[in-house]
Amino acid sequence: MARLLPETVEKGRFKKMAFVALCQTGELTEGQMVLFRVERKSVLLVWPSGGTIQAYRGRCPHQDVPLSDAHFDGKAVTCGAHHWCFDGGTGACLTPGGRGLKPYAVRLEAGEIQVDLA
Ligand code: FES
Repeated sequence: MARLLPETVEKGRFKKMAFVALCQTGELTEGQMVLFRVERKSVLLVWPSGGTIQAYRGRCPHQDVPLSDAHFDGKAVTCGAHHWCFDGGTGACLTPGGRGLKPYAVRLEAGEIQVDLA
């Protein structure tokens, strides 16, 4: 149900932001991960156990594979292709020598989980 929201320009910093509503806050529960498709981008929404909701680019930084087959155990995201692991709360790669997930800013507003895809 992703929905584009009006763009915001941060005063004085010229940073464009494009928050997109991915879902209602009640649609994601702690310990859950959901992959969304927003136009040509994929977004991995993760709520680690005991943590806060995070959003990452929905492709693995190893070989740019979609994380549609990834597994989430409530703490770590594991890519289904070659099993690189990522910290769900930070996106940091837990596999030695690997790169982390690309984070997106998240905000909870008007009962929605919104992600900045700019
Ligand atoms: S593509 Fe994800 S671990 Fe290789």
